[in-house]
Amino acid sequence: MPIDTVMQTRGAGLTGLTAAALKLILFGGKGGVGKTTCASSAGLYLAKEGFRVLVISTDPAHSLSDSLAQKFGAEIQEVKGIKNLSVLEVNAQKALSRFKACNEEQIKKILNTSTYLDQQDIDSLFTLPIPGIDELMGFKTIVDLIDEGGFDKYIVDTAPTGHALRLLTLPGLLDEWIKVMGKMRWKYRYMVETFSGRYKEDEGDDFLLIMKKMIKRIESLLKDQNRCEFIAVTIPEDMAISETERLVSELQSYGIKVKQLVVNNVLESGDCGFCRERGRAQQDYLKQIKNRFSALQTVIIPLWPREVKGIVPLNNLKKRLFL
Ligand SMILES: Nc1ncnc2c1ncn2[C@@H]1O[C@H](COP(=O)(O)OP(=O)(O)O)[C@@H](O)[C@H]1O
Ligand SMILES: [Mg+2]
Repeated sequence: MPIDTVMQTRGAGLTGLTAAALKLILFGGKGGVGKTTCASSAGLYLAKEGFRVLVISTDPAHSLSDSLAQKFGAEIQEVKGIKNLSVLEVNAQKALSRFKACNEEQIKKILNTSTYLDQQDIDSLFTLPIPGIDELMGFKTIVDLIDEGGFDKYIVDTAPTGHALRLLTLPGLLDEWIKVMGKMRWKYRYMVETFSGRYKEDEGDDFLLIMKKMIKRIESLLKDQNRCEFIAVTIPEDMAISETERLVSELQSYGIKVKQLVVNNVLESGDCGFCRERGRAQQDYLKQIKNRFSALQTVIIPLWPREVKGIVPLNNLKKRLFL
């Protein structure tokens, strides 16, 4: 049976990405399904449409350089030969180090004045990793860039599912952390007021307020359907489908609605026994995808005989991603 009869959606491409309000487009999914390929390809498409585009990788295993066949790094760099397209590989660890260096005094001050810890405890608390904080700082870099407004579209090639989810749900977690810190501060403030009659807000209070505002900014951007879209990428295989289902439902519960799904690596032809067998297995999975993701607009991308690396192959894939 030809694939078209299973997926009525063949013929549809990704839509809505040119909407003026849409700033942030994230591609997410299991490792190896084609997130980087889709992000690069979407970058080429939107740049060609006349938008100033920045493709950003938050995957610690950056592969935009491989995909676009040009070396990129931690500074924004234009893609050679392509007008309006630039790339940035965010180094979350570096962003965190910068953040710590800038805010060390304030954080220690909060710990110092708000708890009964001695200096050694405070020093070790400060160096203790808060899970996901490095990625959050990476995300802060993105939000700052969007605020600066140097580009019209920011496309994010995210790390595989677990990482990406942790990043997206982190603002909520960190908010809790700030609340606890705030409570400690409040106790301290109460004591100071009781004994000295007045309390003057210091850098510790400023810091908590700045953090709180940053988290709100990130959260409201991610949950704003007009400004942000998360596109799931999967392949017609059991584990990838299950992981995509979890990803979509977790995002949903966090308030991020996924509307479009790219199904990559779909076999379209092939007469050998191996291809027929693979094709049959894929047909079953494509049916499953149709049932399990019935609310999503699905875009089918064929499996190319070779890796999709470099501008020309990406431009070919682009013709299927955007019709
Ligand atoms: N439709 C396709 N046909 C053939 N090869 C593909 C296709 N999509 C992606 N690839 C290749 O598969 C590999 C993994 O893709 P990539 O985009 O890096 O995945 P991810 O970012 O999700 O880990 C890359 O080598 C890429 O060139
Ligand atoms: Mg990748």
